[in-house]
Amino acid sequence: MTKLAIMGAMQEEIDPLLEFFKDYKTIDYADNKYYEVNYKGLDIVIAHSKIGKVFASLTASTLIQKFSCDTLLFSGVAGAINPKLNIGDLIVATKLCQHDLDITAFGHPNGYVPGGKVFVDSSKELLEIAKKVAVTENLKVIEGVIATGDQFVHSNDRKEFIEKTFNADALEMEGASVAVVCDSLNVPFFILRAISDSANGEANFDFDEFLNSSAKISSNYLVKIVDELIKK
Ligand code: ADE
Repeated sequence: MTKLAIMGAMQEEIDPLLEFFKDYKTIDYADNKYYEVNYKGLDIVIAHSKIGKVFASLTASTLIQKFSCDTLLFSGVAGAINPKLNIGDLIVATKLCQHDLDITAFGHPNGYVPGGKVFVDSSKELLEIAKKVAVTENLKVIEGVIATGDQFVHSNDRKEFIEKTFNADALEMEGASVAVVCDSLNVPFFILRAISDSANGEANFDFDEFLNSSAKISSNYLVKIVDELIKK
């Protein structure tokens, strides 16, 4: 690894990181801000994409192709599907899918278009490092499937569809698009999330209440993982 990308979707998801890394240089590009820092000798570029798959794809691609980042870590919040996940709990994706990608009218499975794949795997090496850090930091981290779509899910019906169709443990609005970009460009990545809500009828209230605290839980863990990456 020569240059690390750290991404979030919302400003709230990267604010704790900018506070932690402090001295950063801001670069405006493609209607977005990119923050360059040097941490313990490692060059890092931090950015929030704005919400949703399109903005997230643009930012991931920019971090890799314009800023030359060769590893990408995503930090943020997610809605829980797996009942074992409570607000504030951490999940790291083993693989990701797009729950709203649908050409089933032509006999294809949900989440699939020709030339793509339903699930994109995260980097095994990065997952191992995340697991090791969870043990040393005594953190409970669940590994599971994350489903992504351009919808804030706030109903049990939609949640059940996503659970049944993809066996997903959590859902959000960017991870799988970042995964597709990284996979296509051969850049190792992982997607880390802390739970902000349960994607049910109360999800919008819970999200507003827990966005900041869960974003902080995710970014605290991410910083420990960066420390471990630097040691290696
Ligand atoms: N991110 C956090 N909670 C979410 C939800 N309920 N739906 C989509 N993305 C989310």
